[in-house]
Amino acid sequence: MHRWEDSSWVDAMRITLDFNNMMAHSIGEKHGLTDEDINALEDTAKDIHNELMERRKKGGLQFYELPYQEEMALRIEEYAEDMKARFENLVILGIGGSALGGMALHIALNHPYYNLLSKQERGGYPKVFFKDNVDPDWFGGLFDILDLKKTAFHVISKSGETSETMSQFLIVREKLTHVLGEKGHKDHIIVTTDPQKGALREIIKREGYLDFPIPRAVGGRFSVLTPVGLLPAAACGIDIHEILAGARYMDQRCNIPTLWENPAYMNGALQYLSYTRKNKTISVMMPYSAHLKGIANWFRQIWAESLGKRYGIDGAKVYVGPTPVKALGVTDQHSQLQLYMEGPFDKVITFLVVRKHSREVPIPNLYSDIKDISHLGNHSLNQLFYAESTATELALTKSERSNCSIVLPEINPFTIGQLLFLFEVQTVFTGWLFRINPLDQPGVEEGKRLTYGLMGRVGFEHKRKEAEEGLLKKQKRYMV
Ligand code: PA5
Repeated sequence: MHRWEDSSWVDAMRITLDFNNMMAHSIGEKHGLTDEDINALEDTAKDIHNELMERRKKGGLQFYELPYQEEMALRIEEYAEDMKARFENLVILGIGGSALGGMALHIALNHPYYNLLSKQERGGYPKVFFKDNVDPDWFGGLFDILDLKKTAFHVISKSGETSETMSQFLIVREKLTHVLGEKGHKDHIIVTTDPQKGALREIIKREGYLDFPIPRAVGGRFSVLTPVGLLPAAACGIDIHEILAGARYMDQRCNIPTLWENPAYMNGALQYLSYTRKNKTISVMMPYSAHLKGIANWFRQIWAESLGKRYGIDGAKVYVGPTPVKALGVTDQHSQLQLYMEGPFDKVITFLVVRKHSREVPIPNLYSDIKDISHLGNHSLNQLFYAESTATELALTKSERSNCSIVLPEINPFTIGQLLFLFEVQTVFTGWLFRINPLDQPGVEEGKRLTYGLMGRVGFEHKRKEAEEGLLKKQKRYMV
């Protein structure tokens, strides 16, 4: 029996949203919300819920079904086991939604110094590298450290045509072929792309590369529970079935139309109300766990790309979207906190808090005669971490700053699965509240088209002209 099949373990691993400090009773009426504000949204929430469930039934919101893809997970797991004997390194080539989910899982669930462990300490699994940038120094430098004969590359692109990922692929393909030959290189490439369309799909057909597709109706930033996130995770020995079980558990919790019982809808409603009624246009996510900093990065993308929109669903110009900011406790207490405490009242701060860390680190009792540090000894880093997160929360609350906490009993695949799914549902629900389409990204597409033009892609000559004309408008006198 898996531990997630034990209801008392599941209860103990349930993540909770504590939104006391979003409310007027904690931070005052000027910045805080009231029960009435929330209750006034209940009917809208019910309508949105019905609409989402209707779409879900028709297959229009396929990310909802991903936690149930056990067959896909089994196939991934089988391949990951097979990799152990064959590869020392796995390099993931992808960008945006095709990289951030995998990175979030890796940072959350692997040893903090995973790549520095011996192969035995890694359970026989390969080292893992995420390359989500085309900076020539950083990408080129990779080949100084890799033995290509022992390296697999996972090429991920939903569209199958993103310039960054496809350029990386072309470079890798040539280098692999040089070392392993035309036939030999094929066993070192795994591809994840749309099941039918795009240049990468065409390349799979020609080359016969190993194929782990992304379901058609799942967009990049909602794809963490597809091979995009799960293959790199399984390749490090992470229990991907438990991640899916956590997501399924959150799906049950989020399949309720009532705000007061649904953590994703409630958090979406709180963020929306704070933005529209209290002018809080910035969403800060501040995990008190270095393991969760990849989740804050991933969240920054899903929140920004989904909610930052020029047009509403009725076609009117709306220019909405909370600006997501990422911070890290305790590090950013010494960098950002001054601004959060005393700057403009324009932020909602979401802490991600972990109740039980995987290890206890005692602080030795040395220099007990020096009074400014003598209080530290005989405590632990765990106590210090907890004291600092509690103190930051209390200080912000005292300064009437909206903040809430998402509390994880501990970090494991089950709680991380819950957290990711919570944020996916929260994002879609909030998009519906703002009455925009959270599933497209027309702003990103425009940048991609201009890049195609500048790189000389056939059919994008007009974009090249547009880009060149734009550059010519720059005047010397505005450059010093
Ligand atoms: O969320 C999105 O849709 C984007 O961030 C994409 O993931 C990103 O642009 C990469 O696109 P693709 O996966 O098509 O290469």
